[in-house]
Amino acid sequence: MSQWIWINGDVIPMADARIDVQDRGFQFADGVYEVIRIYQGRTFTLAEHLNRLESSAEAISIPLPISTAALAGEITKLVEKEQLHEGMIYLQLTRGVAKRDHVYGKDIKPTLLFHGTPLDKLPAIGAGAGMKVLPVPDERWRKCWIKSIALLPNILAKNQAVAAGFDEAVFVEDGRVKEGASTNFFAVIDGVVVTAPKGPKILPGITRQILIDLARQIGVSLIERPILEEEITKATELFLTSSTRELMWVSHYGPLQIADRCGPITRQLHEAFRAWVRKDIGLSDTPSAATVAAI
Ligand code: PDD
Repeated sequence: MSQWIWINGDVIPMADARIDVQDRGFQFADGVYEVIRIYQGRTFTLAEHLNRLESSAEAISIPLPISTAALAGEITKLVEKEQLHEGMIYLQLTRGVAKRDHVYGKDIKPTLLFHGTPLDKLPAIGAGAGMKVLPVPDERWRKCWIKSIALLPNILAKNQAVAAGFDEAVFVEDGRVKEGASTNFFAVIDGVVVTAPKGPKILPGITRQILIDLARQIGVSLIERPILEEEITKATELFLTSSTRELMWVSHYGPLQIADRCGPITRQLHEAFRAWVRKDIGLSDTPSAATVAAI
């Protein structure tokens, strides 16, 4: 559990944090959020998350109360104060407090808060059982690229999946597989990695984009195009991605067994991803000359 929370500019003990009952985030889910991974006490792809926050906030006309540069500094300070080594930052921005009315006034002060949560270190690449995913109809709104805190369809879908013995729900619409309830979805079909294109029906995941860039760099063929559900029978590998869980190999798509172990392309991409994480947080794989000199 977090000890500290940054709330509207103040850092206070988590136990003392209070949200007004009239906050529009509470009453209308009128807000947006981000989940940022912390590795070894360092924020991962913070700039990318804050850019996405800015786009989400702009899309629903909530002004960011502080600049993204200042916010990055505040997040880094909280990670240090919390001594968060492996974990995540949950950040939420709502339109703020006002008398309950669907119409919002112009002078509402947004509520911005964030806090850390420790996470277990992730298992070795390809270790453990694969994810079982349950396909469900996509009943979400048409602006899934906005990271809205209104997650009811995602929550219902994921709980339906878990109740039926699965680990994640994947949304299907018009015969196309879009993404998971809290993950992006990838398939390997005829040796090519395929993932749904950006657009109104998926969240442009930060992990997803890193993998697209990495695949190009390491020569793995990857295309962004709609994935037809009927193609899933041809898939040799499926995997899911998210900031908190990196890449997760999939063993079952509904009743269909896809694989009994992590496939080679998923593994290769995951290895490249882990190497990239080390680089991004400033740990080089080979000790630098300065480190060697210091030993
Ligand atoms: N979920 N798609 C959806 C619907 C998501 O909610 C998420 C993230 C992703 C993956 O995005 P990223 O790689 O940027 O984490 C895709 C977060 C982790 C959550 O809601 O907890």
